[in-house]
Amino acid sequence: MANTKTIRIGVIGAGRIGKIHAENLATRIPGVEVAAIADVNRTAAEETAARLHIEKACADYQDILGDKSIDAVAICSSTDTHSRLIMEVAAAGKHIFCEKPIDHDLARIDQALTSAKNAGVRLQIGFNRRFDPNFRKVRELVMAGKIGKPHLLRITSRDPAPPSPEYAKVSGGMFLDMTIHDFDMARYIVGSNVTEVYAAAGVLVDPRIGEAGDVDTALITLYFENGAIGTLDNSRQAVYGYDQRVEVFGSGGMVAVANNTPDTHVYSNGEGVQSAKPLYFFLERYTDSFINELKEFIKSIQEGTETPVTGMDGRIPVVMALAAKKSYLEHRPVKLSEIN
Ligand SMILES: NC(=O)c1ccc[n+]([C@@H]2O[C@H](COP(=O)([O-])OP(=O)(O)OC[C@H]3O[C@@H](n4cnc5c(N)ncnc54)[C@H](O)[C@@H]3O)[C@@H](O)[C@H]2O)c1
Repeated sequence: MANTKTIRIGVIGAGRIGKIHAENLATRIPGVEVAAIADVNRTAAEETAARLHIEKACADYQDILGDKSIDAVAICSSTDTHSRLIMEVAAAGKHIFCEKPIDHDLARIDQALTSAKNAGVRLQIGFNRRFDPNFRKVRELVMAGKIGKPHLLRITSRDPAPPSPEYAKVSGGMFLDMTIHDFDMARYIVGSNVTEVYAAAGVLVDPRIGEAGDVDTALITLYFENGAIGTLDNSRQAVYGYDQRVEVFGSGGMVAVANNTPDTHVYSNGEGVQSAKPLYFFLERYTDSFINELKEFIKSIQEGTETPVTGMDGRIPVVMALAAKKSYLEHRPVKLSEIN
């Protein structure tokens, strides 16, 4: 039977995404209260706690792990902390929401997933785009057979501005940091796993990204188990804003979603026809998805059901990203079976 008790949650990390999740949990999601927020940068934790009236702010996340009144933890700290924190939070018997990616290393991901399984706690990975109303509609139509058998998938995913070269150095590279969302979307929308990838990539936006060992532009071909073929195209800089489009074409039709814009005006004059640019970046574009993913996480704890984005859903896009990296470096198609 569903347990509707209020879930007490601790947030680890008060950076860009930690602040959003803390705010959503504290103000927009029923059935949950934020009991504590931790950040090695104590000031960041204290500022967020004060703004959102969170009971406790701390520099050491152990204060959250040791608090028996806390049922769940949202891991929002930097990627290099995720797999270790999953193990520690699981050992403390608390349910886990963890930002993407789990880790860049598959052995460490496997250890983390095993510890969550053995501890019997819920684990959800932060692939928020699955909860975007547009993309969810595309998935529903494809799963209902409304476009027949899927043949072609196209995902366009271009950021409005590149990250700093310092960020590029520690992020694990574009495939693991940015394309990882598109790898997840691809298998979610087509409803089938990818077997092989072929990545063409280059440095066309900022040479400093290349000097940091990363790429900023890519075109990736995907072969799916069900026979469908897909492409992902990425750029770190679209001068007209955050470009997030999806199209699935099949034997019985096609479904596509366009960019979301701040308004829908169309201005026409003697020179042409103009409308608003896409919403600027992920904070603006994916607002609803960030709320929806945490609502479903809380629901899965209360109802004792599997989370909608499991640990294995977190692992597979990392395999796809590692395959894309290998494909780019070796100039050849790479089967996912070569990676894991
Ligand atoms: N789903 C999304 O759309 C999305 C968007 C942005 C970031 N992310 C992911 O979220 C994670 C954080 O990204 P961000 O942009 O918020 O980074 P950020 O650098 O803004 O914030 C990270 C915070 O974690 C803190 N931190 C680091 N180690 C810690 C520890 N041991 N204990 C407590 N706090 C610690 C840092 O002090 C910092 O305040 C990354 O894994 C990133 O990939 C996901």
